[in-house]
Amino acid sequence: MTNLTGTNVLLGISGGIAAYKSAELTRLFIKQNANVRVCMTQSAIEFITPLTLQALSGNPVHTDLFDVEAEAAMGHIELAKWADIIVVAPATANTIAKIAHGRADNLLTTLILASKAKLYIAPAMNQAMWANPQTTANIKQLEQNKISLLGPDAGEQACGDIGLGRMLEPAEIVDQIIAESTATPSLQGVSVLITAGPTREALDPVRYLTNRSSGKMGYAIAEAAKKQGAQVTLVSGPVHLDTPANIETIDVESAQEMFSAVSKHAKQADIFIACAAVADFSPATTSNNKIKKNSDTETLELTLTKNPDILAETSHAHPNLFTVGFAAETTDLEKYAKGKLISKKLNMIAANKVGKNQGFDKDDNALLVLWEGGKCTLPLTSKKHLSQQLVQLISEHFEIYKHHLPSNTHDEQDV
Ligand code: C5P
Repeated sequence: MTNLTGTNVLLGISGGIAAYKSAELTRLFIKQNANVRVCMTQSAIEFITPLTLQALSGNPVHTDLFDVEAEAAMGHIELAKWADIIVVAPATANTIAKIAHGRADNLLTTLILASKAKLYIAPAMNQAMWANPQTTANIKQLEQNKISLLGPDAGEQACGDIGLGRMLEPAEIVDQIIAESTATPSLQGVSVLITAGPTREALDPVRYLTNRSSGKMGYAIAEAAKKQGAQVTLVSGPVHLDTPANIETIDVESAQEMFSAVSKHAKQADIFIACAAVADFSPATTSNNKIKKNSDTETLELTLTKNPDILAETSHAHPNLFTVGFAAETTDLEKYAKGKLISKKLNMIAANKVGKNQGFDKDDNALLVLWEGGKCTLPLTSKKHLSQQLVQLISEHFEIYKHHLPSNTHDEQDV
């Protein structure tokens, strides 16, 4: 008996080079005692033969919407009803676009539209196609429709490019489906406070000091925590991201405003994740009027004063709060991160290298996560996938931590 025993899996294969991996995926589903039926698009047939999938699944392969014989054996509506889950792997940019727009112009998209089964999509495409804003919009639509995304992964692609867009390995696809179908939300009833994005420190009414943070990682963490059942409060610096649905979001500009919002909400929080790239300094004075050029001097001197370290102050003021910090470093990642773990009195720190092609304003990232007496590496992947892994790790450590806390953990004092 396995987690997929008796599950009717309809495996949709669309036409990408990763289609060869669908043979292995079929084998793994069968190994899990699932019943597998395969539907291939015409382009998929160019990459792998239906005969291979028929032999592995033990069932005839479905390819044509207008195949009289196949329809007589098991009509497409019947097949759509038969499926408990539908897994499209590989899902090409084209098939994803069709699903996002509710098209039904081949057997696979017709089945998807006609079925009430849980749908899983494992994207596989060139990194530029994945990064195309049209694909991003289509993926967003799928997420809004509660379709589960499996991947994609980052790495070398068949075309030689490097980046996001590789299909997840078959074993990982099966693992994720099993995890999702059996998981109970591990942060149910837990209150999570998250900071994200940069801060802006005003020089005058039109100018400010800031940094390159996009807020993508913090927003992805907020979504991942929400998905695990947490009650999430997101304190966000100025970013160009949509406000996440069903997440209380507090927009702030300066470090001082972020600090006030965090101080207000930390009292009710169980976990604090400081992902924001807070400016360390702000101008000592903010001019009420635009600072003018002065014709007799070639330089302008600014006096900056230190901003509060929101994370350190919060962790010290709320000793029972499970605090997670971030460390963006260009060198000596582990050494500096360990230092911050101790000096800021954190339960966990997630460190990443910043600089050349990594970190700020990118869609993918890798993390080295440290805690007292332990560490783990989360390899390069999309910030979305990475934050799911990080939140899983946080929730596992929080689970252990909370058993050592006194019964009433929400302290009353202000920071
Ligand atoms: O010391 P450093 O700025 O490298 O520490 C990074 C961590 O501290 C991040 O988690 C960041 O959100 C947090 N931080 C903060 N307030 C500051 C500076 C950093 O909360 N003023």
